[in-house]
Amino acid sequence: MKKLSNMSDGLVGSQILELAEQIKQKIREGEKIYNLTIGDFDPSIFPIPQELREEIAQAYINQETNYPASNGIPELREAVSAFIKRKGGLDYHANDILVSSGARPLIFAAYLTLIDQGEKVLFPVPSWNNNFYSHIAGADTILIETSPADNFMPTAAQIAPYIEETTLIALCSPLNPTGTVFTRTQLEEICDLIIAENQRRGENQKPVYLLFDQIYWNLVYKDAQHFDPVSLRPEIRPYTILIDGLSKAFAATGLRLGWAYGPADIIHKMKLLLAHVGAWASKPVQSGTSNYLKNNEVVDDFLKDIKEKLVKRLDMFYEGFQQLKEKGYPVDAITPQAALYLTVKLDLSEYTSPNGEVLDTGKKVYQYLLDSSGVALVPFYAFGLEESSVWHRLSVGTAELSQGEDIFNRLEIALSKLKKKS
Ligand SMILES: Cc1ncc(COP(=O)(O)O)c(C=O)c1O
Repeated sequence: MKKLSNMSDGLVGSQILELAEQIKQKIREGEKIYNLTIGDFDPSIFPIPQELREEIAQAYINQETNYPASNGIPELREAVSAFIKRKGGLDYHANDILVSSGARPLIFAAYLTLIDQGEKVLFPVPSWNNNFYSHIAGADTILIETSPADNFMPTAAQIAPYIEETTLIALCSPLNPTGTVFTRTQLEEICDLIIAENQRRGENQKPVYLLFDQIYWNLVYKDAQHFDPVSLRPEIRPYTILIDGLSKAFAATGLRLGWAYGPADIIHKMKLLLAHVGAWASKPVQSGTSNYLKNNEVVDDFLKDIKEKLVKRLDMFYEGFQQLKEKGYPVDAITPQAALYLTVKLDLSEYTSPNGEVLDTGKKVYQYLLDSSGVALVPFYAFGLEESSVWHRLSVGTAELSQGEDIFNRLEIALSKLKKKS
């Protein structure tokens, strides 16, 4: 007999966390593993800002331990408002900002606030977790498969055929898993499509909404530039929710602090929903962060420093894969633009492993590399692409520069054992 709801019956966990279990088991058994799968930081390499740590500790000492306001303490919302204005030119009043325990509850709340069962959510693949939130909301999905030629971003031309049937478009830039960003033109064209569609729908029809996750926007490197929809096209503001937070740019994934900004009426409903869940961020973290964010110079120094550390690692891995490619191995990497991710191509479908297995799926490639070299990457099927996808995500948040040599030696040995399929 069926005992659970249809929603929970069909609910599955993250494939990345599944891979992590197997990796942890190997580590427990004493194997040397370079786990480059997790979108997280090793705090011994990437600590949170010292001043932030001190401010949070002080807030505990000051006994800021009762319930925070359900939309976030006003001081933090004001500090976030000033921070996004200063760094991104975005004008959101403290009342248009909602604080929660990380970005995830805010995405969850946006889905449930904007979507009715059976309505359609459109999102690109590869992308992160939209499939799960769509499932929870009971939404139908429209997947747009993207290509490296477009920086793995969907184009307006790809979206246009579906725009009339779509209720929510979920975009992310910089993108997890690829570490790439929208160009100005790409994003402008999508904004124009949404604006035109909402003009067509008029006042009496539900608009198409845009959920724009920009949690990595302060981690953009070199010539790459971050664009957000509201700055490019202010007319899109009434339909747009932006997702953001402390987790990535401040290496603070475990502090659990995120913020969203958007139209006050939508933000208000998201607040009501999350208040019932109780997904508030802890008050000392909110209070400490509000004090920390006001120190512009300290904040900017930290961001400069973390970007330098990340980009050095991304460059190191990018170069390593280019060298393997030059040696004739069937690998490649996409020039990193942002976040902590490198997109790696491992096109081994024409090869067999020493025990005769054809490496024609992401899972098989992952398993072969893990077993034979101890290096673990995430195949893109975990982000919605088909099993045969040749793309993988490499995260540098736990990598030391000094490990590069050993990692590439191990990879080369593993690749050199492959045989071309006859
Ligand atoms: C694109 C994107 N949005 C949101 C999140 C979640 O952030 P948080 O840890 O603050 O819930 C992640 C985490 O990996 C992410 O990659």
